[in-house]
Amino acid sequence: LVLWLGLYNADALSLDLEGLKDQAVAQITGPKLMDIFDHLATYSSTTRPGITRLVFTHHDMEAREYIKGLMKEAGLTIREDVMGNTFGRWEGSDPKAGTVMSGSHSDTVKMGGPYDGALGAIGAIAALKFLRDVGFKPVKSMEAIMFTTEEASRYSVPCLGSQGMTGFLDPTVLDEYKDDNGSTFREAANAVGFTAATAKEYAEKALLKDPENIAAFVELHIEQGPHLEAEKKDIGIVEAIMAPALLRVEFTGRGGHGGGMPMSHRNDPALAASELALLNEKITLATGADESVSTFGLWNITPNFYNAVPRSVRVDIDIRDSDKERRDGIITQTLEGAEKIAKHRKCGYTGGVQWQYPIATSNKKILDAIQQSADALGASTKRMVSRPYHDAAFMAQIAPAAMIFVPSKDGLSHHPNEHTAPDDLARGVQTLALTLAQLAGS
Ligand code: GLV
Ligand code: MN
Ligand code: MN
Ligand code: MN
Repeated sequence: LVLWLGLYNADALSLDLEGLKDQAVAQITGPKLMDIFDHLATYSSTTRPGITRLVFTHHDMEAREYIKGLMKEAGLTIREDVMGNTFGRWEGSDPKAGTVMSGSHSDTVKMGGPYDGALGAIGAIAALKFLRDVGFKPVKSMEAIMFTTEEASRYSVPCLGSQGMTGFLDPTVLDEYKDDNGSTFREAANAVGFTAATAKEYAEKALLKDPENIAAFVELHIEQGPHLEAEKKDIGIVEAIMAPALLRVEFTGRGGHGGGMPMSHRNDPALAASELALLNEKITLATGADESVSTFGLWNITPNFYNAVPRSVRVDIDIRDSDKERRDGIITQTLEGAEKIAKHRKCGYTGGVQWQYPIATSNKKILDAIQQSADALGASTKRMVSRPYHDAAFMAQIAPAAMIFVPSKDGLSHHPNEHTAPDDLARGVQTLALTLAQLAGS
């Protein structure tokens, strides 16, 4: 096996993957990880099963302290950037050999689950701690990362931390997007001590200075879909991440009393938005591709009384595809449809793309390392695309990157019932540890 590994990765020649595998299975266990996940889940503004940890709230700040404590226990040297991205570093023997990075986010959606993000953020630290404990000597340096706000749950724009690090961040976002209380990212960041004078300064200072120094980035995550469970596969090896986009449309009308206003007198924007939702479903299904997905998930209705005809309805529409052109086709048709619907329902209308990002493609050498790690563990694997986006989607634009998935029970995530069996969580972290060991050399 060792010789065979050498075909893929010269560094791995001297790595005893079989021996390391046995130690990983003995030391990275479900119960040990569950102690950490259960504790992390207490940093939440809602009680379980729903977990809510929005960026820069006191729950997030307490979770950050806890995670930094874990980094310290793992012997890592901590640094934070201006946006709150947090790095735990382990210096390799060759300072010029580059850095192998791994991590994910610790914020959540509203009423989300305990593993979305947390698995990859905690998993990276656990993997590095394990490698230190067994006396592994990395040639390349290694870093565990906790990214600031992958979720768009507070500011409606995702991956702000990784966008900042990779040069994708449009700084105006930090001043223009507001949370439910009207505060911006810049205000919230300043309030918790991540300070910069202007939005532009956040973007400039967060930007990674030497991206060519990143030898690899690997993100471990739950699948958040049904495929691994349905096919009884242990580990997903992610070859690409779908291209996401957010559309925002707003219809307006006169409104009126829910009893007093006759149907014939109404120009109800909620009916316009509903008609658009049904049209968009047809458009999306018409591609015939399982990877074409659209979601009308966020409705903002004014005044939102049961007995008042709505006066305005703003809908945020999540559109994703594994084929960017196909996704763009759905966007165009949906926006054209919205204009027509507004016209025939005599509603006011504005609409457009809020943000859209490219597809991410994984690095072949990292995919091979993940495959060999899973094989060593006797784990069954499936090559797949990630339908959700991740910080890896941005890291992959500037460095070699790939992802490891573990199954999600009933395919649920962004849902309070999100669950992954402790053994599956452990297998994911074991796979990550062996992968990082191969990539960092011994
Ligand atoms: C966020 O986690 C997403 O993929 O929507
Ligand atoms: Mn998520
Ligand atoms: Mn996530
Ligand atoms: Mn995500």
